[in-house]
Amino acid sequence: MMYIIDSANLDAIRRCVELFPVDGVTTNPTIISREHTSFPELIRSIREIIGDERMFHIQTTGVTAAEIVREAELLKDFVRGNFYIKIPITDEGLKATAELKRRGIKVTETAIFTQQQAMFAAKAGADFVAPYVNRLDNIVSDGVNVVTEIVEMFEKHNISSCKVLAASFKTVEQIHKIAMAGCHAVTINPELFDTLIYHPMTQYAIDDFNADWESVYGKESILDIFEKDK
Ligand code: G3P
Repeated sequence: MMYIIDSANLDAIRRCVELFPVDGVTTNPTIISREHTSFPELIRSIREIIGDERMFHIQTTGVTAAEIVREAELLKDFVRGNFYIKIPITDEGLKATAELKRRGIKVTETAIFTQQQAMFAAKAGADFVAPYVNRLDNIVSDGVNVVTEIVEMFEKHNISSCKVLAASFKTVEQIHKIAMAGCHAVTINPELFDTLIYHPMTQYAIDDFNADWESVYGKESILDIFEKDK
């Protein structure tokens, strides 16, 4: 499963990329606006941090298909590397998706809340669809079930050109359940990366190891011991 950072915060992205197995970055206008800075400078810096090979999904602000296509062309040339234009699922968005596929630009169809929206996006040529798990849960729907059914539907219809990039998460349980459903990718905020690897028993085990080591070797680490022996 691919793990993607849903953030435009440079410090957070730098830290996640250094520490975790990260496959890319996704942004949307809300995430970008939180940084209160120049948009071109921000996306150029993100590309510098993540390198050319990791995916970079940037959302359009265009409304008509023509505007979306123009923005996608412009952004692709500006950010270079492994670039995806994120397009909210609308009629004009689908038209733009089909046109961008003809032009060889990769598309992530976003703001997906139903299985049929996902199917339409895949048929139009989207490379990823992004269903919003927690926002579905918040309206007493079932985000995990929607993602599970999209994955199953794509399998049943032999759709392999479009992958499911689930978004909008608040808990590790949501992420785990969609992983078990065979979802291909998740985009999660930097705080959730830390939560994903945290378990109190892990820290308890580490504390135990350290205490046992110190009882014999004191504060010296393996490195210290070998340095002394040189
Ligand atoms: O990119 C979509 C995603 O950021 C939505 O997440 O947490 O705002 O529901 P959230």
